[in-house]
Amino acid sequence: MEKGERTYKAHCLVLPYPSQGHINPMLQFSKLLNHKGIKITLANTIFVHNTMHKISSSSSSSTSIAFETISDGYDEGGITQAESIEAYLDQFRKIGTKTLIELIDRLSSSGNPVDCIVYDAFIPWPLDVAKKFGIVGAVFFTHSCAVDNIFFHVHQGLLKLPLPPDSEILLPGLPPLQPSDMPSFIYVYGSYPAFFTMVVDDQFSNVDKADWVFCNTFYELEEEVVDWMAKLWPLRTIGPTIPSMYLDKRREDDREYGFSLFNPNSDACLTWLNAKPKRSVAYVSFGSLAELGEDQMEELGWGLRNSNNYFLWVVREKEAARLPKGFVEETSGKGLVVSWCPQLDVLANEAVGCFVTHCGWNSTLEALSLGVPMVAVPQWTDQSTNARFIMDVWKMGLKAQADEKGIVRREEIANCVREILEGERGKEIRKNASKWKELAKNAVDEGGSSDKNIDEFVAKLVQNY
Ligand code: UDX
Repeated sequence: MEKGERTYKAHCLVLPYPSQGHINPMLQFSKLLNHKGIKITLANTIFVHNTMHKISSSSSSSTSIAFETISDGYDEGGITQAESIEAYLDQFRKIGTKTLIELIDRLSSSGNPVDCIVYDAFIPWPLDVAKKFGIVGAVFFTHSCAVDNIFFHVHQGLLKLPLPPDSEILLPGLPPLQPSDMPSFIYVYGSYPAFFTMVVDDQFSNVDKADWVFCNTFYELEEEVVDWMAKLWPLRTIGPTIPSMYLDKRREDDREYGFSLFNPNSDACLTWLNAKPKRSVAYVSFGSLAELGEDQMEELGWGLRNSNNYFLWVVREKEAARLPKGFVEETSGKGLVVSWCPQLDVLANEAVGCFVTHCGWNSTLEALSLGVPMVAVPQWTDQSTNARFIMDVWKMGLKAQADEKGIVRREEIANCVREILEGERGKEIRKNASKWKELAKNAVDEGGSSDKNIDEFVAKLVQNY
């Protein structure tokens, strides 16, 4: 097909890493590009594609994203089917490359040639495919810029591991950090070596060859570190990737929320929340990956009950057996336990007054953007760093302190929840929360820092055709 015959301005193929916390932001980014006239094909792995539940609170949708698949070599079970994480990533690279090339060829021969691949930084190999086809390669970082900066310094050998205990870590664009503020793969050196290789080595292996480097954050949130990293690469902030209707209620057409690997208990959660007073509920969730041990579940559960406030707690099916005995029955007047919920709808509900969170980057950005104060209970990967920023830099919440065994005890949980919902510090935190909510909205509003960056990308893509 000749260029002139196309019915679209440019076509991006979007490739997320196959987990919830990566698919969500890349899907929302795809919707933004699509709103700006870019044709989007989003390719998940076959396993993810077959597992996803579509979540839509609207009967009509203004987005027209096409969904395709590539294979990671584990079509029946994804990463859980692999003998090791190393084996999974190796197969994904080999079979992913092959099936990605086949997909691009197929799209091209059906009159939909691809102009650009937007790929997750966890999987750097799609850039080689983009180069092979002579098309644009744009890498998408799903962590905060601060976390990317830390991993980059380890990659460059500028931050030596293992970190000496009690050392102060000084990195450009970041406040002084303690070893315990570092991502778990750095702080607990040697834990999860395959993930360490992925985030420290793979992510940066070819980033200097990418045409665009996107980070799911917004300039006003991480100004200094963004400025520093933008000197290294063509880095652009494009977040927060939250559907616009949750930010300003203007684009009601953007209701279509996303896809979930879990089945949300939407009606039960929202009906329950709607019957609760304003700012009276602690929403509790640890994202899609972290699994709390039995001790921590017990302390958390009784801590929530002891706070004597309402709580909505997401306990994934895998963890349900670890709930304290008799807990659900005993707390039924105060709490609701569900296996998955529509998190944005929950955070946007005015009954929710605080978010007890593992501080995954999506959850952090969602709470910031919707102005919900947090109680930070980080578990692993980037979450300790996010928790430190939530408490000390953005002043959006309290970090619950763990004991020497790494468990956050019930008294601490109850105190933090009470402090935010009922205490003086809660008032201060709520003020800051309103500020961040406004700044997040401004960043993605027309002419805002992220919106301008996306416009620049779209204009360049379109110019070439
Ligand atoms: C993972 C990492 O843990 C995280 O630290 C990293 O930054 C991204 O990848 P995950 O643990 O799942 O992600 O946490 P998070 O980043 O918070 O993403 C979870 C997503 O699932 C959020 O978008 C949240 O809205 C959604 N969610 C969570 C639901 O829709 N319903 C739920 O009940 C819980």
